[in-house]
Amino acid sequence: MRKEALYSGKAKTIYKTDDPKQYISEFRDSLTAFDGKKKSEAANKGYFNAQISKKIFEMLEEEGIPTHYIEMVSGNEMLVRAVEIIPIEVIPRNIAAGSITRRYPIKEGTVFKRTVIVMDYKSDEYADPMMNEDIAVAMGIATYEEIAHMRSMALKINEILVEYLDKKGFALPDFKLEFGRVDGEIVVADEISCDTCRLWDKSTGQSMDKDLFRFDKGDLSKAYEEVARRIVPEIFE
Ligand code: TMP
Ligand code: ASP
Repeated sequence: MRKEALYSGKAKTIYKTDDPKQYISEFRDSLTAFDGKKKSEAANKGYFNAQISKKIFEMLEEEGIPTHYIEMVSGNEMLVRAVEIIPIEVIPRNIAAGSITRRYPIKEGTVFKRTVIVMDYKSDEYADPMMNEDIAVAMGIATYEEIAHMRSMALKINEILVEYLDKKGFALPDFKLEFGRVDGEIVVADEISCDTCRLWDKSTGQSMDKDLFRFDKGDLSKAYEEVARRIVPEIFE
């Protein structure tokens, strides 16, 4: 079923399958941060992120949000629709953390009254510079309609995720979405996991996401396991 690799990124490898409309996305244990400058591995990270992503994609589909997710083919391999990725990271921000506190005079922990949507151009070479609709159209990577659609999908997904994660005991300061085109529609692609979200434990305020690795703040595998226990308890039965 799994054929040759099409593309290997920093944390996942995408493989072709017998069906040109479907790919397999393999979640690996490798970890990188700061545009690939910091590298490591964490035991079971690929498995936990794949399972968390699967659960979130299924939940979003139930809420009427289209995603590339089809089904799991193993613990850390996901069958997905083959999409054309739009190289824009769409980041809903609810509480200030990370790059927005470095690039602008906004203090970490500031709660935004209105969700801030940041769009970045996905490029290690250019260090993910800020994107807007005029630049995207000038570069020919997306249309005005697509940018507006991604923005409204991101706001809707944010609302759903904040409520969902709140019930599991997490605050969601921010997270990153990628979208792809397939059969004339725009669907959520890539992953939604501890690598692509900031998750803070509501009772302790502890980071339970990739910031543990970025800033050497603690045991990443243990934290990801705890997130998986709350989001996909069935895999521990
Ligand atoms: P940032 O504060 O570094 O811009 O990150 C915002 C959110 O996006 C955070 O939840 C981590 C996620 N993110 C990715 O998933 N991939 C990336 O390449 C970057 C820079 C951030
Ligand atoms: N800079 C990204 C991050 O810190 C990841 C990367 O570019 O390797 O999440």
